[in-house]
Amino acid sequence: MKDSTATITKAQGVGRSDWERETTSRTGAGAVDDPYPKFAELRQNGPIHHGSTFEIFGVPDPTRDVWPDAHRFTIISFAEAEQVLRDAETFSNAGIRRMTEYVFGPVSLMGSDDPEHRQYRLLVQPAFARKSLSMWSQFVRPRLDELIDDFIAKGRGDIYFDYCAQFPVYVIGMALGVKREDLEQFHEWAAKLQVAAAPPDEARAAREAVHRYMLDIVNERRRAPRENDLITLLVQSEIDEGEGLQKLSDEQILGLISNLLPAGAGTTYRSLGITLVTLLERPALLAQVREDRTLVPVVIEEVLRWNGPVLVAPPRLATRDTEIAGVAVPKDSIVECCIAAANRDPAQFENPDVFDPFRPQKPTLSFSTGPHFCVGSQVARMELVTALNALLDRLPDLRFDPDQPQPTLTGLWYRMPTGVPAIWTP
Ligand code: HEM
Repeated sequence: MKDSTATITKAQGVGRSDWERETTSRTGAGAVDDPYPKFAELRQNGPIHHGSTFEIFGVPDPTRDVWPDAHRFTIISFAEAEQVLRDAETFSNAGIRRMTEYVFGPVSLMGSDDPEHRQYRLLVQPAFARKSLSMWSQFVRPRLDELIDDFIAKGRGDIYFDYCAQFPVYVIGMALGVKREDLEQFHEWAAKLQVAAAPPDEARAAREAVHRYMLDIVNERRRAPRENDLITLLVQSEIDEGEGLQKLSDEQILGLISNLLPAGAGTTYRSLGITLVTLLERPALLAQVREDRTLVPVVIEEVLRWNGPVLVAPPRLATRDTEIAGVAVPKDSIVECCIAAANRDPAQFENPDVFDPFRPQKPTLSFSTGPHFCVGSQVARMELVTALNALLDRLPDLRFDPDQPQPTLTGLWYRMPTGVPAIWTP
């Protein structure tokens, strides 16, 4: 960990533009590089700790003002994190609404409980089922090849910014019907919609901009539905809010879109960046994966466990006085389940700090668990596998650029590499 009293400045964040450095620094990039020794130290004193994750690391908590008087707890063990994430009656997502309202508006997958949550979840789920993957995958490999075509002749470049960061938001944008020339702008809006990543007024402005933009597309799909199309699926969906089945309102459709955008972009490209740094640091493993592509998904899964992009699940609100591992948790406490720490719990994984794709496969919390389990996990896995395969196909001697500083992994709520400077034979 760097200076634990560090205040965050945008100079510390990761990104090529000011807004990007600022959004990443607000969630801990540049302030905390390696959180794992701290988790190991905390583990000596049990699975649950007072304070939010940010507070535990002495970093300004961008969500402090949301629940200024609440007791806050952080869970670092696998069993207790699983228990909390699965028990939505005791550990509600409703508390998140206050934190995300300015981002998602009144419709929030992340900020609602059943029965409201289940209704929205059932609406979007068909778009993410295995049989719908082609709705997403049709945009993936063409985009990846186009990106590689752009930089391959140079023989060197930072493939985190030029490759990883350039496709997931594009894929979501294309699936939503965004015009190509607007995708850059869309990327910025998506980043600002990520929880806690932008000041509330900027996030609100981004949400309004997305709504204005998407409303035209929604109206267009109502007039002319398309096959294999996400917005068509939403405009044709029906929901029962007590008065019989009704089509979704504009506000509901736009709200669901605002939910998908931030959840599916940064997470996926940061995972790919972390995967590349991990492989480039291990040339023998990289060569093995290049030869045996069945290892691609295996490596990706182990990276998600060992150093995934989402360090902590969205905070839960205790709906009653309860207790976790013998520690009293009063009603209205905010409880954070630290996915990264749980995924390195020695009670769940042998030698958890070792990156070992050949370890026995066991469930992880990388995509969380329970009713809010990541709806996009299959899409994310497909994108990651396709993107790594495309690089292995087209840049077979990819390696770190010896003339650039070695990148580090950094960040608290969201983890990411500082870059992936690489060279290859054009
Ligand atoms: C490697 C990439 C990804 C990771 C690691 C990841 C991880 C997560 C995690 C940890 C949660 C929180 C669940 C909870 O509150 O318990 C979540 C929720 C969510 N994710 Fe992902 N995600 C990824 C990619 C995606 C993609 C590609 C999409 C969509 C295109 C997506 C859509 C969502 C949505 C909509 C939610 C809210 C679900 C709900 O509350 O019901 N995610 N994800």
